[in-house]
Amino acid sequence: MAYEYIITNTNIQPHIALIQLNRPKELNALNLQLMQEIKHALLEFDNNDEVRCIIITGNERAFAAGADIKQMESRTAIDMLKIDQFETWDQIRKTKKPVIAAVSGFCLGGGCELAMTCDMIVASETAKFGQPEIKLAIMPGAGGTQRLTKAVGKALAMEMVLTGKFISAEEALDAGLINRVVPEEVYLDEALKLAAEVAQQSPVAVRLAKESVLKAFDSGLQEGLYFERKNFYMCFASEDQKEGMKAFVEKRKPEFKGV
Ligand code: HXC
Repeated sequence: MAYEYIITNTNIQPHIALIQLNRPKELNALNLQLMQEIKHALLEFDNNDEVRCIIITGNERAFAAGADIKQMESRTAIDMLKIDQFETWDQIRKTKKPVIAAVSGFCLGGGCELAMTCDMIVASETAKFGQPEIKLAIMPGAGGTQRLTKAVGKALAMEMVLTGKFISAEEALDAGLINRVVPEEVYLDEALKLAAEVAQQSPVAVRLAKESVLKAFDSGLQEGLYFERKNFYMCFASEDQKEGMKAFVEKRKPEFKGV
């Protein structure tokens, strides 16, 4: 598929695929087609055995300044219902491989929600996170009230959602929203390094482990522990588990094949 609003790259580093949002003049505002393209690319990478970790990024000025306001401005509730854009977001959330957001500049509204839908966030010192929808007399609709609250707690989430205030990368780090803050010149390199660390692991174990961590968000403790246990047992069905433990005993680096 030829993409108009994203650039994809699978040659940047072994086992890593990159999706770059590419509407720079509009600060990568997320129109419906762009979201479809992200969904499509993620699905393609999920089905590509060579890919073990995915990075979504924007540019220095903006990861994404939110959903495209110009596209939404004149829509009615029934238009929104019929378009049902959240089906696309649900598909994005279901990506089986780990997804890292490499964020610089504005990461707002739907942009912040997209970053939070990813599994980890690496940010540049210039990143600004916010849910400013309230200033448009709407509210977050793609997980902002839920994922932000789970990440940073009620006090800060409520303030961000009700006032639209932005927080800096440092504040986001302190609040537990993101994994690390690095100078702007290296934010993508740092995301690549993190992706390479993940890509070194067994893809089978990584998939099961990601699934299990995400289960913590929508289950009670007992159900989550039970789910974790089943996935733990499942790891022992892989050749990678035999290789991982054999390599440890033989004091060498394991070679994981994803089977
Ligand atoms: C459409 C946008 C946009 C957006 C910026 N632009 N954000 N277009 N949708 N979300 C466009 C501007 O109109 C402008 O185009 C160009 O990008 C540059 O933006 P400026 O405003 O000139 O830049 P600056 O003064 O630096 O201000 C940056 C900014 C501001 C603070 C990020 O652009 C801003 O407040 N943007 C909106 C942020 C927001 O409210 N996001 C939430 C959207 S609702 P022109 O052609 O005019 O020069 C949402 C709901 C999600 O995300 C629901 C789930 C899908």
